[in-house]
Amino acid sequence: MSVKSPISRRRFLRTLTLGACLMPFSRSLGRMSNVLGLHPETPLVDLPKVPLIPPQVMLPPFHSAIIGTPHLALTFDDGPHPKLTPRLLDLLADREVKATFFVIGEKVEAHPDIARRIVEEGHEIANHTWTHPVLSKISAARVTEELRLTHEKVLHVTGSTMTALRPPYGAFNGEVRKIAFDRHAYDTIMWSVDPLDWKYRNSARVRRELLKGAAPGAVLLSHDIHATTVAAMPETIDLLQTRGFHLTTVQALQAMDKSGRLDSNQRPPAPKAGALPS
Ligand code: NI
Repeated sequence: MSVKSPISRRRFLRTLTLGACLMPFSRSLGRMSNVLGLHPETPLVDLPKVPLIPPQVMLPPFHSAIIGTPHLALTFDDGPHPKLTPRLLDLLADREVKATFFVIGEKVEAHPDIARRIVEEGHEIANHTWTHPVLSKISAARVTEELRLTHEKVLHVTGSTMTALRPPYGAFNGEVRKIAFDRHAYDTIMWSVDPLDWKYRNSARVRRELLKGAAPGAVLLSHDIHATTVAAMPETIDLLQTRGFHLTTVQALQAMDKSGRLDSNQRPPAPKAGALPS
């Protein structure tokens, strides 16, 4: 684009300014100049200043990743539990496996040493609210407090700034997601495999269901507050590893995700459950 006269140059700059105002999610000056048809190297000295840190946008809830490697995420909700979570951390450490822990704030307050251990041992810690309510059925003010109290407690106890929310019972609505994103830039994390370990307190069943659903990119849901679940883990993890899976955190899985985080009806098909990694 060439700018010949002062008038058209002023108009051009006005257009750019308007464009900048209307494009709060523009990732960079370079990208904006591409949108406007400018060469990325075009000097933009007359442009108004825009933030150097790219603003994030709220993405659809994350259920699983599309990846080219046999990684999957192990996730544990509702802890920390005073006896079971340390036991789980021991067996994860023995197997050099990392996982994501969606913790409840009031339990972090009760067991800060265990929350600290989760972070110190390289696991991901994420928000599962303060008291485990159905977020879609409580007021916006209460949702805000449930998230804020937990966020601040975990930050205070572990030094870790959480970046993800798993809503209890998987229950959320647009308002919950907006509060989570606007206040804390939280990503909403769901799952792709649910062994119903809270319902069926049977280690063999938990193991069978997790193995059945395991696939590259999967997110496995479990609860580290049930003895039967923690008892199922040694053999479950060993069998997953024998089958060639690499177990990791949600965050690590997301870093490998090639899905583009499209809504599920726009995405390419997820790997078939039970498929062996290639
Ligand atoms: Ni829960």
